[in-house]
Amino acid sequence: MTRIWEGDKELDVYEAAQALKSGKLVAFPTETVYGLGANALDEQAVLRVFEAKGRPQDNPLIVHIAAYKDLDDLVQKPLPPFVQLLIEKFWPGPLSLVLKLKESSPIAQAVTGGQNTVAIRMPSHPIALALLSAAKVPVAAPSANTSGKPSPTHCLHVLSDLQGKIDGIVDGGETCGIGLESTVLDCSGERLSILRPGAVTAEQVEAVTKMPVVIFSSEGNNQKEEMKIPRAPGMKYRHYAPKAPIDLVNGGLEQLQLRISEWKRQGKRVGLLAVKELGQHTQADVFISCGQQNCLESYARELYRALRAFDDDPLTVDIIVVQAVEETGIGVAIMNRLRKAASTGFYMLTPSELPVNNDGE
Ligand code: TXA
Ligand code: MG
Repeated sequence: MTRIWEGDKELDVYEAAQALKSGKLVAFPTETVYGLGANALDEQAVLRVFEAKGRPQDNPLIVHIAAYKDLDDLVQKPLPPFVQLLIEKFWPGPLSLVLKLKESSPIAQAVTGGQNTVAIRMPSHPIALALLSAAKVPVAAPSANTSGKPSPTHCLHVLSDLQGKIDGIVDGGETCGIGLESTVLDCSGERLSILRPGAVTAEQVEAVTKMPVVIFSSEGNNQKEEMKIPRAPGMKYRHYAPKAPIDLVNGGLEQLQLRISEWKRQGKRVGLLAVKELGQHTQADVFISCGQQNCLESYARELYRALRAFDDDPLTVDIIVVQAVEETGIGVAIMNRLRKAASTGFYMLTPSELPVNNDGE
């Protein structure tokens, strides 16, 4: 049975923390998305996370902590000065740092997949911080969705994917203000590289560290090479994806109309996901609005809810036309998720080329 604890009740959060500590799987809200937590020191609990999500075991988990001193047991010290600067600037917040694992670290092997690095993050969501402080153990937490699906930004999304497979959820309502997962920044090598873009941007990291940052995005000319040796193991799968295939369109109203008409001519029931202002002007069979024009933050916040809506019965379609956004600020992260959900770049798909869903994060 999956129990629901109220995130605004102190006693509930305390109980959830005890459950977490004792090896139970507990989902909880963060400022990015809901996470599925397990005691990171408990190998069996961590293995159950992979099972509940249907997640491939070669994709390591982020460890969540509530206090800076929690780093001492987990990673090699002293931290490089640029890492200290990043922590001072962005923690608590949506930045996961991949650091060298301490040799005597008590972290369960399944968390890191046997690698000698570990991704660590201190979330800023008050419920997450309260839960982690009360649990008094580091908590491994991937997004609380079934592998491959859009991440959850609401307690109901978690229930719809994982009810019966996990022990409980701390309900924080719709309080994932960012809506996309944290930036994953690899600080363990010679170069600083972003393995997954998020709300903390490459420019912000460069401004703080005065070091150049490489973005390892999983599309572009060298896609095939990167897919063979993914830096962040999660890069090689299609994910964030609703059931229907996605056709990502780069352009304004006119391009969207053209694409919608083209699919309709082929007899398809067409969905459109675009900013609120555009929907009423198109001939799409189903329109789900996502954010507002000129506000990428609102698009990010609503994206997973909007993608998930297309899996709900009266709204299911054969193809979802999605309007691309400008790749500045959090737009880089939005486009990264959309490309993975579409599994393609910007080209016209014929029905036989439409991607099938696959395992993911
Ligand atoms: O915002 C978030 O980060 C959310 C919330 C719950 O905190 N968590 C999340 O976790 O998105 P997950 O497991 O869905 O994504 C973790 C990402 C994956 O792309 C994984 O490959 C990468 O972090 N990662 C984890 N440990 C790593 C490591 N040691 N080296 C490289 N990449 C790592
Ligand atoms: Mg995930």
